[in-house]
Amino acid sequence: MTSKVLNYNNPSLQGSITVPGDKSISHRAVMFGAIAKGKTTVTGFLPGDDCLSTIDCFRKLGVKIEVDGTKVEIDSPGIDGWEEPKEVLYTGNSGTTTRLMLGILAGTDFHSVITGDDSIAKRPMARVTNPLKQMGAQIAGRKNGEFTPLAIQGTKLKNIDYAMPVASAQVKSAILLAGLQAEGTTIVREKEVSRDHTERMLKQFGANIEVEDGVISLKGGQKLHGTHVDVPGDISSAAFFLVAGAIVPNSEILLKNVGINPTRDGIIEVLQNMGADMVIEEDIDDAAEPTATITIRTSNLKGTTIEGDIIPRLIDEIPIIALLATQAEGTTIIRDAQELKVKETDRIVAVANELKKLGANITATDDGMIIHGPTKLHGAEVSTYGDHRIGMMLAIASLITDSPVEMDDAKCIAISYPTFFEHLDLLLK
Ligand code: S3P
Repeated sequence: MTSKVLNYNNPSLQGSITVPGDKSISHRAVMFGAIAKGKTTVTGFLPGDDCLSTIDCFRKLGVKIEVDGTKVEIDSPGIDGWEEPKEVLYTGNSGTTTRLMLGILAGTDFHSVITGDDSIAKRPMARVTNPLKQMGAQIAGRKNGEFTPLAIQGTKLKNIDYAMPVASAQVKSAILLAGLQAEGTTIVREKEVSRDHTERMLKQFGANIEVEDGVISLKGGQKLHGTHVDVPGDISSAAFFLVAGAIVPNSEILLKNVGINPTRDGIIEVLQNMGADMVIEEDIDDAAEPTATITIRTSNLKGTTIEGDIIPRLIDEIPIIALLATQAEGTTIIRDAQELKVKETDRIVAVANELKKLGANITATDDGMIIHGPTKLHGAEVSTYGDHRIGMMLAIASLITDSPVEMDDAKCIAISYPTFFEHLDLLLK
């Protein structure tokens, strides 16, 4: 663990940064490029620890992958030509790698074992292994297949018609990727729409997929074709600087290349509802994923209520939204967000505990939190819980504390934003 003392003396933030590649899309670009036979090139790739874990797994399956900064070249024999791995596939801290790999490996003709770090070992996998088992998958693991390590004996799969019990793009994607190799047409039904990068990217790789009113249909047996993927910037990473720009006095930040996929843009709606001084200019192109340049300035903020079907559109942004709410006039209520309990750490507990240490008026609830603002924050010793998004939230908080913040582990930030502190330095005035 690398502890870090953050000591900023009345800073302001000025200037512009280009947001690094989207984590969800970077994972998928590598996965789909590995499933496809032939060459795939990726630009704007996020070389964060999670996405590097995905690359590692595919190398162990015999896929050639070259990484040069944010450029990736994949040369694959295609899923039918993969080798049975001689080593355990290690997914690190990455839930997306672990869950999507389960769907991909279920329909191969070989045996494989997946495991990750201590956080992955606590994350529920039955939400993926149960529907996959209904498709015929043979998966064994700790606590009846509920937790890693998981052993997968690849086998022939049949299609499923599955109504999603929770809004989860990881579960949806695992089923669709298994469905790609299954007999018949796989159908996934979503009550609340989760991020749709898998659906968009399947089209990019030449698959025929239908999406209508929350019903996704994918015919099995389709082959993917190598292509070029240009990954947009990650709105979940941009969110830290959007909030920083709004709460740090005398600030104006321009964020370039922000992915604004409508299944991910809940943070923009919340900032608007809270009164943020923000301008969004959409980039005009016909890319698979829309992007924008966003300017944000120090703002007078008011509390809001965040609940219902916006939650999946901002689930990863709730830690930083909680900090935003500590600086807003009035009460902010976040509910229907029980999924936060099964992220990299229990983010309801982590956010409430750590913001309290800094002086925030915040109460954890069963499915969210209640925050009264505005409050002046002070320095303290805090813990990231090894969770990248808790780490970045606390780093942004330290910009407005009246004394230093010491965090126990800043290294975890490299999971999704390896250049976070460089970007912060660029903006500090
Ligand atoms: C992700 C989906 C979300 C999100 C995670 C990335 C993805 O998780 O929180 O950071 O890439 O599909 P769930 O599927 O558990 O909601």
